[in-house]
Amino acid sequence: MKTGYLQFAPVFSDIGANIERISAMLNGCNGADLLVLPELASTGYRFDSREQALSLSQADDGEFVQFLVEQCANHGFHLVAGFNERDGDLLFNSSVLVGPGGVVGKYRKLHLFMDEKDIFEPGNLGLPVFEIGQCKVGMLVCFDWVFPEAWRAMALKGADIICHPSNLVLPFAQQAVPVHTMVNRIFAILCNRTGVEKDLAFTGQSIIANPSGEVLSRAPADLEAISVVEIDIGAAKNKRITPRNDVIADRRTDIY
Ligand code: ACM
Repeated sequence: MKTGYLQFAPVFSDIGANIERISAMLNGCNGADLLVLPELASTGYRFDSREQALSLSQADDGEFVQFLVEQCANHGFHLVAGFNERDGDLLFNSSVLVGPGGVVGKYRKLHLFMDEKDIFEPGNLGLPVFEIGQCKVGMLVCFDWVFPEAWRAMALKGADIICHPSNLVLPFAQQAVPVHTMVNRIFAILCNRTGVEKDLAFTGQSIIANPSGEVLSRAPADLEAISVVEIDIGAAKNKRITPRNDVIADRRTDIY
């Protein structure tokens, strides 16, 4: 299975420009199976107000998601992308999984970071896991990374790979995500963004991590980067860390 990320700097408030940029990058990704874009890839991140975010939001059948569906239909891959989702009067910091046949599933960021709490509702869809072919996909968005419970919950639901659209400003997640993949024996694609918006500088360094905690690909901190690597998704089915230890079966569920 060929998986990857498209690290770039979305143009704030210009959905059309972001669609054009993503479309151009995807033209170099033929043959990929599953690709991840950053958090809020449609609009950028640093809204001045909830009203501004509302004016830039779209429903999950809006122009941005329709664009992703068309790209998947044309190229034959699956995409995961963060977007500013409007549902009635509510806003969610969402991630959508799309394939050649349309939208497969959606996740809404559970753990809001800093001023996001003034703009978005906390996610209300739980931690769903979706099947695409032989692979089970879960999603997290950026600051969700800090909660090991979220990773473990999806691993227990059978997730083989966690797609992690991000707009990271702290320097920790790129170190922590390979540990989450190691202790759950799964894969992760952390797609961060680059660039600066107002007072925030984003840290790039998107990674793909395997069930041994190895980093298969790491992007630079400040450059646009596309990476596609071959992974053996079957490795995520094996939860043994030694011949006599299984990280799922050995849990002391009588204690915790
Ligand atoms: C973040 O959750 N976007 C830092």
